[in-house]
Amino acid sequence: MVRFTILAITALTIGISDAAQTSCASDEVQHRYPRPEISLDTQQKSSWAWNLSQDIYQEYVATYAHVNEARVDWRPIITTATSAILDNALSTTDLSTVEDVVSYISSQMWHTETTGLVNNVTFKSSQTPLICDPMSTLIYGYASCTGVSILFADALKYVGIAARIPAKMANGKQIFSSRFDASNGVAHPMAWDLENLEVPGDDRTVYYQDACNKC
Ligand SMILES: *[C@@H]1O[C@H](CO)[C@@H](O)[C@H](O)[C@H]1NC(C)=O
Ligand SMILES: *[C@@H]1O[C@H](CO)[C@@H](O)[C@H](O)[C@H]1NC(C)=O
Repeated sequence: MVRFTILAITALTIGISDAAQTSCASDEVQHRYPRPEISLDTQQKSSWAWNLSQDIYQEYVATYAHVNEARVDWRPIITTATSAILDNALSTTDLSTVEDVVSYISSQMWHTETTGLVNNVTFKSSQTPLICDPMSTLIYGYASCTGVSILFADALKYVGIAARIPAKMANGKQIFSSRFDASNGVAHPMAWDLENLEVPGDDRTVYYQDACNKC
């Protein structure tokens, strides 16, 4: 069964910054799984990750980047945080479904007391693209919606849950989710780098209209 995690929607606004010339969207395919052993280990330990198909696992769990955030080796750091969170949870909290794990990590990911990391992480507007990769967010202790979403999605990937970040077009009508495989020819829009069409995406407008109209 395929389950995607819905993360905070990144609103597209024009002209936020011209500092985003650090396009990393042309990563070579062979660089896609820089530390596969950690994620595979996680997959074996996490019962909620068992039901993912190999395609979904490779696209949305094992991949290490979402958009054109700086490429950093976040897995060892996120391991510390998510392991601490899950260890704390085991005796007290029922984490048998994907929804349980997503809610629990979302409630614990932002405080040094639960992550054991150096900083709390809080929301601060207008930080993308300078602060949006997971290491910058953790070191500064804040990021705006893109950085907070990327950190959260990376924590979920680490525990074996398929996760990706969405973006809304400035017209408010179309919503995309980023992906790694470019074979569908769709570009994922980035508010901070509008001319960059190199990050692949999926048009998820119909899905979001359906999901959000029920709320
Ligand atoms: C995997 O999917 C099956 C069938 O949908 C379900 O019964 C089972 O509980 C799932 N396992 C986990 C660990 O989510
Ligand atoms: C993190 O936030 C808590 C309150 O939620 C505060 O007590 C603590 O001092 C903060 N830690 C750091 C390192 O800022």
